[in-house]
This record gives sequence, structure tokens and C-alpha cells, in this order.
Amino acid sequence: MRTVSNRPKVGSADLAAVDDQNEAVLNRSMLFENSLSQLPFGITIRPSKFSKEGTELAALLEAAFPDTFEGRHFYKQRPHSRLLAFDEDILVGQVGLELRAITIGGQHFEILGIIDLCVLPERRSKGIASALLNAAEERAGDRDFSILFADDPELYSKHGYEHISPAVTRWFAIENLRSHSVIERDMSGVLMAKPLGIGRWPRGDIDLLGYLF
Ligand SMILES: CC(C)(COP(=O)(O)OP(=O)(O)OC[C@H]1O[C@@H](n2cnc3c(N)ncnc32)[C@H](O)[C@@H]1OP(=O)(O)O)[C@@H](O)C(=O)NCCC(=O)NCCS
Repeated sequence: MRTVSNRPKVGSADLAAVDDQNEAVLNRSMLFENSLSQLPFGITIRPSKFSKEGTELAALLEAAFPDTFEGRHFYKQRPHSRLLAFDEDILVGQVGLELRAITIGGQHFEILGIIDLCVLPERRSKGIASALLNAAEERAGDRDFSILFADDPELYSKHGYEHISPAVTRWFAIENLRSHSVIERDMSGVLMAKPLGIGRWPRGDIDLLGYLF
């Protein structure tokens, strides 16, 4: 995940179909009928129950984004929901999901925001992040676009995300758990989007109507 100022990575709901009360464990047969990749062997993905988030999640976030989360489970703001990947009982990856109304060129669009996608270092390159990304998109309902902010586009390009350029973007800045201003910057090179419906990304300045995730 990134901030424009000091975050090393940008990445990173009450999604209608996913809420933190939903304990359903997703398995190979339930997921990814049309997915880019299959759920890796032995991995299950399930929604987080925020009340149960504990030291394991904090440790995962710290391992993936060192010296960023300061022991919290979120960087600037808690995501609306979260999907967790487990190998047996071990938490090996996570993705935060943001539901947001934004405007592009003054027009209103509904987006899924991908936040802090990460996998334990020793579990990488096995398709776990891809499975989390697919699972997030499959729960996006009728959102117009999935968007994220990334310094490294490689994984996301493989999943059909494209850079938006120009990407003049406004957002409410939060730093160190404090709201402080509205920022406007061209986020070309880091903002990536994937259409979930039939529409192409329109031209125009972007207003995130909230914080930069
Ligand atoms: C990025 C990350 C989530 C990928 O997890 P993963 O489970 O290894 O991902 P997958 O196995 O599905 O796909 C691996 C592919 O992702 C791409 N990739 C690797 N590191 C990446 C990175 N830091 N950012 C973007 N893409 C990356 C590569 O194409 C890689 O393919 P390879 O294994 O053949 O080299 C993981 O490296 C991670 O947690 N990094 C630290 C946190 C981070 O930077 N998150 C992204 C925030 S935008």
C-alpha cells in the first residue's frame, strides 16, 4: 500500500455478498469457475471476523509491510471487509476490500478498492495473492471497476488491470491517524483499474470521495 508521502507500497466492505459475519469457508469447488488461477492446494479463503482479528494478522501485515502498521490491522482506515487465506490454520495472506462511490469527470461510479494485498514471504509465488484477488473480484457485485494503487504492476497486469493515465486524483489525506487536508495529484503510474462491468474507464479527473487506500 502507498501513501503519496511516506508509505512504501500503495496497494492496497460490506460487500453485499461478503460481510464479517459470514463464516462460510470458500473452497476449491465454490470458487473460481472462471478465474485466472485455481485456489492453490490446501488453501482456504474466508471472510475476516473483525472481532477475531489478532496478533496473527498484525504479524502478517508487519512481515509484508515492515514498519508501516505499527501493530494495527489497518494503515489509514479500516477496510470495509477483508478476505483471509489460510493454509490449514495458518494465516498466510490477506486482502482488504473497500466499497466506494467515486467520481470520474464529475460522473458517479461504484468501485471495489483492493487494499494491502499481501502474502507471508515464505508462501509467495504459489498463487495465493492471485486467489485472493480473484476472490475479491468475484464478490464485487455490480461494481463498475476494481481499482488499486501499486508501485509494482506485475501481478495486477496479469489479472487484467491497466494503468490509468492521466490520473489527476483528489482525496482526503490521513497521516498518523489524523485527517488533515485534501490533496490533488496525478497518480499515473500507480493507479490501476479493471472494468468489472462493460464500461471502459472514462476520461476526467478522479475524486476518491474519501481517503487514498
Ligand atoms: C505482491 C504479493 C502479494 C504477491 O503474492 P504471491 O502470493 O506471491 O502472488 P502470486 O503467487 O499470485 O503471483 C506471483 C507473481 O506476482 C508478481 N509479483 C511478485 N512480487 C510482486 C510485488 N511486490 N508487486 C506486484 N507483483 C508482484 C510476480 O509476477 C509473481 O510471479 P513470479 O512468482 O513468477 O515471480 C507478495 O509478493 C507480497 O505480499 N508482497 C509484499 C506486500 C506487497 O507489496 N503487496 C502489494 C501491495 S500493492
